[in-house]
Amino acid sequence: MEDIRISRRALMMGAGAVAAWSASPARALLAQATAALPASVEALIAQMTVEEKAGQLTLMAAAWAGGAANALNPISATATFDEQLAQVRSGRITGVFNGNGADMARRMQTAAMREQRLKIPLLFAADIIHGFRTVFPMPLAEAGSFDPDLAERTARVAAVEASAAGIDWTFAPMVDIARDQRWGRGIEGAGEDIMLGKAMADARVRGFQGRRGLGADDAVAACAKHFAAYGAGEAGLDYNTVDVSERTLREVYFPAFQTAFAAGAPTTMASFNELSGVPATANPWLLDTVLRKEWGFGGVVVSDYTGDEELIAHGFAADAREATKLAFLAGVDMSMQSGFYIKHLPDLVAKGEVPMARLDQAVRRVLAMKVLLGLFDDPFRRIDPRREKTRVRTPANLKLAREAGARSIVMLKNDGDLLPLPKAGKRIALIGPFVQGQRELIGTWNVYGSDAEAVDLLTGVRGAVADPALVTAVDGSGITDALPGGIDAAVLAAAAADIVVLAIGESQKMSGEAQSRVDIGIPQPQIDLAQAVLAVGKPTVVLLRNGRALVLEKPVLDAPAILVTWFLGSQSGPATADVLFGDVGPSARLPVSFPYSTGQEPYHYAHKNTGRPNPPGPLLEYKARYREGPNAALFAFGHGLTYGRIGYADLDTGGGRLAMDGSLMVRARVTNSGTRAATEVVQLYVQDVTASITRPVRELKGFRRVALKPGESQVVEFTLRAADLRFVGIDDKLTVEPGEFRVWIAPSAQAEGVNGRFVLA
Ligand code: BGC
Repeated sequence: MEDIRISRRALMMGAGAVAAWSASPARALLAQATAALPASVEALIAQMTVEEKAGQLTLMAAAWAGGAANALNPISATATFDEQLAQVRSGRITGVFNGNGADMARRMQTAAMREQRLKIPLLFAADIIHGFRTVFPMPLAEAGSFDPDLAERTARVAAVEASAAGIDWTFAPMVDIARDQRWGRGIEGAGEDIMLGKAMADARVRGFQGRRGLGADDAVAACAKHFAAYGAGEAGLDYNTVDVSERTLREVYFPAFQTAFAAGAPTTMASFNELSGVPATANPWLLDTVLRKEWGFGGVVVSDYTGDEELIAHGFAADAREATKLAFLAGVDMSMQSGFYIKHLPDLVAKGEVPMARLDQAVRRVLAMKVLLGLFDDPFRRIDPRREKTRVRTPANLKLAREAGARSIVMLKNDGDLLPLPKAGKRIALIGPFVQGQRELIGTWNVYGSDAEAVDLLTGVRGAVADPALVTAVDGSGITDALPGGIDAAVLAAAAADIVVLAIGESQKMSGEAQSRVDIGIPQPQIDLAQAVLAVGKPTVVLLRNGRALVLEKPVLDAPAILVTWFLGSQSGPATADVLFGDVGPSARLPVSFPYSTGQEPYHYAHKNTGRPNPPGPLLEYKARYREGPNAALFAFGHGLTYGRIGYADLDTGGGRLAMDGSLMVRARVTNSGTRAATEVVQLYVQDVTASITRPVRELKGFRRVALKPGESQVVEFTLRAADLRFVGIDDKLTVEPGEFRVWIAPSAQAEGVNGRFVLA
């Protein structure tokens, strides 16, 4: 059995995570570093002017070569590179982000070390979200692997590559739970589920930071973002108002952050959104009461890009000076991109509106991070033009990208075992706007990778089959616009083929920041293409390209086989071919529910029952359902097929009684009666039947990737303890109540699998 490797820490929530954070190495280091910075660093603080202190709290987009950051963020006032060098010399910035490579970093660091009065090393940050030059699947896709070990390995490689180019700090992982598929940024996280989110948060932090300490030249510091509840914006609109209860914050949106901190993430980023009227960037309850006092977080809080400036547009601060004061006093140590801290903190301190001690505290945290990263020992430890070339895109890294790609593909259906396809003797037509060319491969939020360096589907498929000449490719349609003559050409190609592979979906610009959609369907011109191509009547496999859950309707839904292929990165084509032709069996599961209709959003499997649930079966009057359909998913969270034939049997609930201080072993027999090997993601769900706070219809409590040969059967077991059944009670504190629980061991959040009951007593 391929066991998941989530540390004990990752499995803890709430108080458990606080305890873990207190015991974690990063916390110990940060606490130590801030309590007792090396004497030389303390001496620096004593010598710093207020301006120099504010400079340590000011982070700007790198200006080198025009600035990559501007391609990903709204253009805001940026300096030229020469002006930025002048800011380095005068100690007015702590570092830059999304810069370009070792040359730039060396020039800037040299200016800091030679020409700046106090010679405080600069910090180089970047959005390393899913790889550096080797691009891995989008985090949402990779979460579908239900394989935290894989996520740790890809994050490790991303860190090894990025650190060689001078990067010390990544603005990742994004650990926002995303329950509204209209929101475009779900693609940067791990989807809708709390437990999967925690497991991925843990893995990614460990991967980025490595196991040799943050001082290692291949470690990058992680930043758990965006704190907090950024994914809960009203109507799925990016940046929008969030108004959720404290209980929901604590139960749904906080745990992945707590896990990331417990795993050692020394930084977090305040989110753009407001929380019940108070923007996160100026929210003392969030940043001080909870984060610092309750959880004991000793690290650095950075604003998001111009997050402090945006307090004015929120209608929370009257002007830049007030925005600075509110954000800083609420607990934002470092300001990103607005330049507000360097402009206004000195005057606020001079006028006594910001205490010097508070300024020193923030500076200490930032310098402690620089100490931890080893920058005071050797400011150039991650800046190495030679390593920058040799550590990237190595054969081993690209191999991992291919493995991760194949492991992220979800098979939604496979009627008549159309898949896997034969490698020889068949003419294959690849049709759709995603089948060929150096485009739409790597996905959003990649500063350093490029589609030009990624492998497309046509190349991947031609590389897999016996006779590449039997594979043809035609676009048939644009992504949002029809292509003149496209459908005719596609129909001709389909008619001349034995098998059609139809790749349709979203462009990479349709998900990511500021890419909310009102309709999460496939654009109409591609539906028209699908209609015409499917009408030809050839066996057709649909490959979806997507950055979120999609609504799938006829005719696409009628295709016998559908694979979700997301944005898979550098090895997109070969990874997809591996699954299409069966070199690798599909093993990923949906990390987000695919609804019947956009109007169901925000839809997630762990919803409440309501007082009038519609039982499975026909839609009934006066029940919680829509006129047009059930309150359910078309393809549920956790769903995904394999090339095996998997059956669940023989649930054993270990006597059905769990003592408060004991454990309960829940087991089921999982059998592959098919003729092909399969890796099944076996999932454990529970429902607390009656509680003082209503509970979700199901909650994921465990998962295992289980490799099963043809004909093989295994007993899969999970251990449940009372701590796994805790929830946030009426007093907003964790509680656990005795009573009856339902339990499922099942292949998805909606499948019955095998199920039973037990009692917590
Ligand atoms: C995003 C952050 C990102 C930052 C820096 C912002 O627009 O919300 O996730 O880290 O830009 O690029």
